[in-house]
Amino acid sequence: MIARKIKKDIQWMGAVDWDRRLFDSLIPLPDGTSYNAYLIKGSEKTVLMDTVDPPKTHILRAQLEKVPKIDYLISHHAEQDHSGAIPAVLERFPEAKVICTEKAKGMLSDLLLIPEDRFQTVTDGESLDIGGKTLRFIHTPWVHWPETMVTYLAEDKILFSCDFFGSHLATSGLYVKDQGQVYEAAKRYYAEIMMPFRKIIAGNLKKLEPYEIKMIAPSHGPIYDNPSFILEAYKDWVTGPPHNLVVIPFVSMHGSTRKMIDYLVPALAERGLQVHQFDLAVSDIGKLAIQLVDAATIIVGTPTVIAGPHPLAVYGTYLANLLYPKARFLSVFGSYGWGGNTVNILSGMISKLDVEVIDPVLSKGVPTEDDYKSLEKMADTVAAKHKEAGLM
Ligand code: FEO
Repeated sequence: MIARKIKKDIQWMGAVDWDRRLFDSLIPLPDGTSYNAYLIKGSEKTVLMDTVDPPKTHILRAQLEKVPKIDYLISHHAEQDHSGAIPAVLERFPEAKVICTEKAKGMLSDLLLIPEDRFQTVTDGESLDIGGKTLRFIHTPWVHWPETMVTYLAEDKILFSCDFFGSHLATSGLYVKDQGQVYEAAKRYYAEIMMPFRKIIAGNLKKLEPYEIKMIAPSHGPIYDNPSFILEAYKDWVTGPPHNLVVIPFVSMHGSTRKMIDYLVPALAERGLQVHQFDLAVSDIGKLAIQLVDAATIIVGTPTVIAGPHPLAVYGTYLANLLYPKARFLSVFGSYGWGGNTVNILSGMISKLDVEVIDPVLSKGVPTEDDYKSLEKMADTVAAKHKEAGLM
């Protein structure tokens, strides 16, 4: 991929990673991703915003071949998919300084062994005039690590946001074409890496309110030339109330838990609740994460393995706790053969969640009429809770 013009003196650089399918050895990337860097030429100084993932360094190096000088390399975020090629850029441009937050300086030193004298740290709100272009650095911690910041280019009203507002989406287009497709990819990205910090991110969104933003240029996925839709989406995801949605991650071994979910889902739907079930044995965890953004209730379904929940149910519950969704209610259902401690084990894994626990339903072996009645009661309780909370 070659460098591409966004506006006069502003270029997209970087790499589109069409074939990457996993991030952090955890996060599925069904649509690949991109590592966007941006080159900005002022009349006095030239700036590069972020770099690329190390395996793509050669692409950035080729794009920079005819650039005579870089004065500043702005590092918004120390994670290696954006910072990994900084050492190569510093080697090619020995006069360049790395601009970042004080916290990022420490992290970049630790991760990339960048020497002390290559850094210039910036405070929150500090500006840099590069000749006809003014860069305003806004500290926005936890999008996605604690050191993150964004840059607002005042004259062009462009926000360079790095992970913030980004999407894992490989595309040949520079700009968002299909808002629905980008909405889902951006929501998946938000759910997987930013939702755990949503209370801090709410403050970051507020901080951006005074700025007129005509374009958002993230470091993953296409550029937003009409950014209102993603700003509105973030407001909903971060600060909006949960939706009238029940998310059920479950696993079944010999069919008893399956029978229970086959009964419970229509029972909830009949009461006016939206439901999304995920068989953890086959589901894309990104899809589960997307639904957790909006879920008001999470119900985990599991059989008993040895004396506790199925390991996949443990994984699903651990993940839900880690992602810290805004769900308000939680319950468990499932089956057992001779005993076990399933509910206690799962209850001990949700310490981060601000949820009210609804009575679980466990069947001994195949569910009986009494178990189905208990599931009816669970559906009644969830519906009543959603009504009380004004969600339906
Ligand atoms: Fe795209 Fe947190 O790195």
